[in-house]
Amino acid sequence: IPVDSFDLVLFGATGDLAGRKILPSLYRRFLAGQMPEDARVIGAARSEMDDDGFRDVVRAAIEEFVAKPMQDAGTIDAFLQQCSYIPIDAKGEGGWKELKKSVRDDVVKAFYFSVAPSIFGPLAQQLRNHGIACENSRLVVEKPFGTDLETAKKLNADLAASFDETQIYRIDHFLGKETVQNLMAVRFANVLFEPLWNERYVDHVQITVAETMGVGGRGSYYDKSGAMRDMVQNHLMQLLCLTAMEPPNQFEPDRLRDEKLKVIRALDPVPLKHVVRGQYKEGEHPSYVEDAENPESLTESFIALKVGISNWRWKNTPFYLRTGKRMSRRLSEIVVQFKEAPHSIFEKDDGSTANSLTIRLQPDEGIDLSVTIKEPGPGGMRLVNVPLDMTFADALGSEGADIPDAYERLIMDVIRGNQTLFMRGDEVEAAWAWTDPIIAAWEEKGDRPLPYSQGSTGPEEAQMLMHKDGRRWQHLEG
Ligand code: BG6
Repeated sequence: IPVDSFDLVLFGATGDLAGRKILPSLYRRFLAGQMPEDARVIGAARSEMDDDGFRDVVRAAIEEFVAKPMQDAGTIDAFLQQCSYIPIDAKGEGGWKELKKSVRDDVVKAFYFSVAPSIFGPLAQQLRNHGIACENSRLVVEKPFGTDLETAKKLNADLAASFDETQIYRIDHFLGKETVQNLMAVRFANVLFEPLWNERYVDHVQITVAETMGVGGRGSYYDKSGAMRDMVQNHLMQLLCLTAMEPPNQFEPDRLRDEKLKVIRALDPVPLKHVVRGQYKEGEHPSYVEDAENPESLTESFIALKVGISNWRWKNTPFYLRTGKRMSRRLSEIVVQFKEAPHSIFEKDDGSTANSLTIRLQPDEGIDLSVTIKEPGPGGMRLVNVPLDMTFADALGSEGADIPDAYERLIMDVIRGNQTLFMRGDEVEAAWAWTDPIIAAWEEKGDRPLPYSQGSTGPEEAQMLMHKDGRRWQHLEG
């Protein structure tokens, strides 16, 4: 679907995220015919550079981060013609008059802050003071949205001084992932699951986001953040919300965000005994403390938590969350583990045959339902658990294989003016309000993260968190 014309001003255009994600995603949408001929990408950053210099930056990003078959010289040149650059001084006067002259008033104006949160406020104010932002302007802000409740409130207030909430698009790129959206389709476009989606039938839910990479290169940011702030407060929280929320009565931004907010507000405080923090040791790659360049670091590169939700739907169904760096493999998934059948009429039914629904975000996006059937053969009634596997690439052919990057979807949603997959200010604040006391508790205790081997599933204690409850993590082997 083509979108209206737009001017997208990308602050932080020479930064890492712009190069890795934003510019390549814009190019891929251009290639897909979604970028009107007169739409423009205006890079803005501190570096002095002309349009051609910026076009070299964009070209390099495309060459490095877009799949080779999608790199066509003519298409890249055409895309670059729609890119320009203005050096800008976030806190001074340089560049703002030029920017005002460059952006048009009769098209969608999107200002994308891919910069440190400390300059969100000053940039928003400059846009307002110079009369650049107007009613049809949209503001896109990247994470981290604060480091705790207080800083998030301050950021919200700073942005609210220049933009209305309906103009603010807070990115959590996990919401742009195709399977995450599919979770909503599975839940709310089928009658099959909803009647079972509650504490009567769901034993527990487990959410895993495991990565093989370390934090080398971004250690100075990460060491102040840790897995709780970097991943749980935002990405895992969003996955939990979409799994746990009530059906909104329309697929409409505020209806959906209201339901997510209710889940966050219903989350129980988490006692320290339900938290396991880890830090990767030296192995094939440098240790966490070397990557972070902080030998005394108490920051976690792994965390597992057992989380309760106090509402009718989930009262006795725990949600187990875990995420970490330098783990055995890259795996992101949600497993909804159903209870055993209430009474078994078969011999040798040891309960290991309970159904589970796995929503796989990566690597092979898809949904997998395990069902119990009779093992074929004349040997009697032996039960076996088999997957009803729907890997999207297999089920949907080339369309399934060609899954767009989360950023492509999200940037186009900004241009279309659709906030459904973006976080609202109160939602972010509620997530911090839940996160803060957990962090405060371990800081107060001087808790040290447990060392774990690179290429493992994290500290043994994370397995114990489940074993103590007679459960086990799935699908990630050490
Ligand atoms: C980012 C985190 O938000 O998400 C990173 O800051 C993490 O630490 C990344 O690696 C994971 O995103 P993806 O899309 O690669 O799973």
